[in-house]
Amino acid sequence: MDRVLPFRFAEEEGVFWLLDQRRLPQEEVYVPVRTAREMAQAIRDMVVRGAPAIGVSAAFGMVLAHLAGEDLEEADRRLRASRPTAVNLFHALDRMRPFWGDLAGSLLEARRIWQEVEETEAAISRHGAQVLWGQVLTHCNTGPLATGGYGTALGAIVEAYRLGRVRHVWVDETRPYLQGARLTAYELQKAGVPATLITDSMAGWLMARGAVDAVVVGVDRMALNGDFANKVGTYALAVLAHHHGIPFYAALPLSSVDPRLASGEGIPIEERSPEEVVAFRGVRIAPEGFPAYHPAFDVTPHRYLTGIITEKGVLYPPFAEGLRRALGLD
Ligand code: MRU
Repeated sequence: MDRVLPFRFAEEEGVFWLLDQRRLPQEEVYVPVRTAREMAQAIRDMVVRGAPAIGVSAAFGMVLAHLAGEDLEEADRRLRASRPTAVNLFHALDRMRPFWGDLAGSLLEARRIWQEVEETEAAISRHGAQVLWGQVLTHCNTGPLATGGYGTALGAIVEAYRLGRVRHVWVDETRPYLQGARLTAYELQKAGVPATLITDSMAGWLMARGAVDAVVVGVDRMALNGDFANKVGTYALAVLAHHHGIPFYAALPLSSVDPRLASGEGIPIEERSPEEVVAFRGVRIAPEGFPAYHPAFDVTPHRYLTGIITEKGVLYPPFAEGLRRALGLD
């Protein structure tokens, strides 16, 4: 896949360069990040987004904290407070903690976290490609831009296309932040995969007409029973797919499973500014002063899942047993 990566680390400059995803696809602009404080702000502002990409960025945020001489406790706290739902952020910061005060060790660990993203996603793409065929529908953005690797759901889609299994992709625009319209469309175009953009509300009608053979999405946090949080709109797609008898898959690295959660009930759901619903890039859609609500994620119960695509293979029900085994908890 012709990948555009969301970041690169310039060790000699002590700068982590982030591709400003707010400006895509119109402009490809990299912005320099020099401190953990700046990194936390960039994550909150969605300069970089997508669960695995946030995890890698937070890890390098701790490397920057060492280089910039910031208080490490404070840096860790700021990064943890940047976004609440994707567990990869917390997982990466937990892994960095043993290397506090050790610049070389922390840099090595951050690079390892990034390397593991690449390796797990190559495997996810391989396994996922075996269960996808025909016309697939996806939501939000789960490609290299969201991860720093090959992508999760989108990695599997692109690999399935390469193998001649998938022939066309329906891309949900993904209101209100338009990750599908702006980022997934951009990535699929670069990868040369035939795809068509739809508004989120068109998915049901396409399913009713037999134009969707499978749905595959990414994951921000999965509980041990398979319930999972992903971009708002995922739950509606799962219910629709279930109603129409269409296979529905979630693709994720096992590091996106939160082993402390027995079910999806405890997953914290980020609420973002209603401004992102009533306006886009400063252009107002709703009347001035009109109230809006913006949960950025929703939780899909595991009963709607056909399978869970992981780096260790595709898991089928009962998911609780499969996940525990894959995580080595039994
Ligand atoms: O708010 P975002 O853009 O960070 O949300 C991203 C998603 O919901 C993705 O589907 C998820 O992070 C999986 S990425 C491989």
